[in-house]
Amino acid sequence: MATHQSEIQAHTGLIEFNGQIIEKMVSEHEVQAMVQRLADEIYRDYAGKKPLLVGILKGANLFVGDLARELGRGNPEIGRLPMPVEIDFLQVSSYAGDTSTGHVEKKMDISTDIKGRDVLLVEDIVDTGKTLTWIKKQLQERQPASLNVCVLVDKPERREVYFKPEYTGKSIPNKFVVGYGLDFNQEFRNLPFIGIVVGQA
Ligand code: IMP
Ligand code: MG
Repeated sequence: MATHQSEIQAHTGLIEFNGQIIEKMVSEHEVQAMVQRLADEIYRDYAGKKPLLVGILKGANLFVGDLARELGRGNPEIGRLPMPVEIDFLQVSSYAGDTSTGHVEKKMDISTDIKGRDVLLVEDIVDTGKTLTWIKKQLQERQPASLNVCVLVDKPERREVYFKPEYTGKSIPNKFVVGYGLDFNQEFRNLPFIGIVVGQA
């Protein structure tokens, strides 16, 4: 027998999670299709190279894991071979709740020497653009061979500084989103899709 919750899910795209009602914006299926397409693009552009994926914690945790796995799997349908990558992480903080403080603070640095390496920063979302601009400037000083950015979702309307990622999963409207790594006060990161908190359950 269908539970109340699964009925809500089936009929409205609303999901009850953690005492809140979440409206789906990007389904799990669509997220995974975006990751596959991004892996195809990265494979094409980095052929013969071994890029260093640098995931920005905590939000990019799920994304960098899925992207690295996808690259490692290859895609026989389009003749894409499994591609080796290295993985590192850095952690910054710039948000309190849903408000950008505009002040970026480094909490944990990468442990890889990136001089001469092909570095691909992997981030969950680009919003004002301040965080990625700041991180890119810091890493550029270490003289990588290349330094590009891959984001899962982009909110171009919110830009305060010019910033254009080389790889973008999808542009989304100006709404605060959670899930697939994205949090609101550290919650909702383990939702398999991306959604909007619309109210209390
Ligand atoms: P930016 O410096 O404004 O581009 O901020 C980017 C960072 O803010 C991301 O790494 C996220 O951690 C956080 N952020 C921006 N928008 C959202 C959102 O809609 N949901 C959750 N986190 C967000
Ligand atoms: Mg983040």
